[in-house]
Amino acid sequence: MQKPNYGIDAPTVLRNLAIGAIGCYLLALFVARGFLGPAIGFSFAAGMMLWSSLAGKFRARDALLDAIPWRGDERVLDVGCGHGLLLIGAAKRLTTGRATGIDIWQDVDQAGNSAGATRHNAELEGVSVEIRDGDARAIPFDDAAFDVVVSSLALHNIYDAAEREQALREIARVTKPGGHIAIIDIRHAYAPVFERLGFTVAKKWTTLLFATPTRTIVMRKA
Ligand SMILES: C[S@@+](CC[C@H](N)C(=O)[O-])C[C@H]1O[C@@H](n2cnc3c(N)ncnc32)[C@H](O)[C@@H]1O
Repeated sequence: MQKPNYGIDAPTVLRNLAIGAIGCYLLALFVARGFLGPAIGFSFAAGMMLWSSLAGKFRARDALLDAIPWRGDERVLDVGCGHGLLLIGAAKRLTTGRATGIDIWQDVDQAGNSAGATRHNAELEGVSVEIRDGDARAIPFDDAAFDVVVSSLALHNIYDAAEREQALREIARVTKPGGHIAIIDIRHAYAPVFERLGFTVAKKWTTLLFATPTRTIVMRKA
């Protein structure tokens, strides 16, 4: 039976770490033992990245979705859904609700990224979802359209700080009053922006994914 494929994140970074590890092992073997330290460092980072894509982020998904008080009738948006990790996970928690994913489908962020791959995963998982092209910086939905907005490992890929904040404002805009936002991401802390926009932080915690501290925040709109 075919299994869903939720994609390998940051494939170029993973490839470069693997090349670095192999190169340093060869240098340690043939040139100087001092290269053994960097070889082990590169191997650890590559291993962590692969483990995070294949196992770690599923645990992170479950912890995030468990922190949302589901009724089952929610309209849910996954921003930067990729292969549908949160989109499909959220859809499984709905009864009469509907989950929608948007993405700009960058291969550099997730190998084999496409709307078709996500649709195929949803079919294999036995859930119905809506998948649209859409940029986090200009979310193609009306104000207050969603009860729950989720996002996993997507927003740090917006490198310009002002554009990243614009994406957070867009996420806040499309969330209904009383609705929830739940985000997993690396590098940046988003809570201060949402607090300025009238959200309260319900839960937050940090784990280690992709060899990087990874923050999860769950917030409620006033
Ligand atoms: C590392 S992947 C994570 C995908 C999925 N959320 C997951 O956790 O498996 C990052 C995703 O963010 C998407 N992305 C990057 N910038 C985006 C933007 N400005 N708007 C929407 N999606 C974006 C990429 O195309 C990619 O699918």
